[in-house]
Amino acid sequence: MQTATAPEPTITDERRVRIRDLRVQYAPDAPFVLDGVDLDLHRGEMVALLGSSGSGKSTLMKALTGFAPISSGTVQAGDFDVAHLGRGQLRHLRSHVGQVFQQFNLIGRLSVLTNVLTGSLYGAGPVNMLGTFRSEDRKRALELLDRVGIAHKAGDEARSLSGGQQQRVAIARALMQNPKLILADEPVASLDPKMSRVVLELLHAIAREERIPVLVSLHVVPLALEHSDRIVGLRHGEIVVEGATPQLDEAMLAPVYDIDDDAEEAN
Ligand SMILES: Nc1ncnc2c1ncn2[C@@H]1O[C@H](COP(=O)(O)OP(=O)(O)OP(=O)(O)O)[C@@H](O)[C@H]1O
Ligand SMILES: [Mg+2]
Repeated sequence: MQTATAPEPTITDERRVRIRDLRVQYAPDAPFVLDGVDLDLHRGEMVALLGSSGSGKSTLMKALTGFAPISSGTVQAGDFDVAHLGRGQLRHLRSHVGQVFQQFNLIGRLSVLTNVLTGSLYGAGPVNMLGTFRSEDRKRALELLDRVGIAHKAGDEARSLSGGQQQRVAIARALMQNPKLILADEPVASLDPKMSRVVLELLHAIAREERIPVLVSLHVVPLALEHSDRIVGLRHGEIVVEGATPQLDEAMLAPVYDIDDDAEEAN
């Protein structure tokens, strides 16, 4: 039966991210920061995004949540046509997308448990800090803390945790959203090598177990080769390398970096 109004868009598990010929420009006369990017993200895969500083990695993630100005092309996240969403729909989209950042972005004076619980508030409109959380949400937040290996820290102030522990709280907070997609922008840039591996293994397991795409930007090539199913290399806003991780090695990823440019400049 036909209805008069279009159904609310959503990100269903069958859908994936589909980006076509994406161009992003921050100002009318500025250069294109992303210049003709095509990218699909599939269920259950961890995709590493590599590129020098300024190549457009963060902008690509922002374009997926409507935080970057899309000049042309399409960005489809599930049913959401990201370039053409109103404010309410943008909030709805963002409530489906778990985000993990280099600096964790926790509220330091609040407990670990409360930080995770704030994940359940995404898309719920203005945060009511006086509101109490439902007991089923508290139970789920504790389960998620257990899953990321730090349930014993639930009552501690977030700021008292190590960087690796804080990042795992941030991942639990993202999971609290029941995300259909996770965007992790340099999630291990502030962590030591051992903790970097722990966090990336956790994100990889989440991609597999939750059957969602996880897009993770990284600066360390060996970490990308170890902890992803696919690698996408951006250079000056264009994808210059893309492939299944087992088929790639460091030499094949060299075009991602400006090594040749630097050598030319040095000559
Ligand atoms: N809000 C903004 N306004 C204007 N220019 C911007 C803005 N955000 C990013 N840029 C420019 O876009 C380009 C790409 O930036 P972006 O942050 O996407 O790169 P990145 O690959 O994430 O770099 P990094 O590895 O340093 O995080 C840079 O030249 C940057 O200066
Ligand atoms: Mg960045």
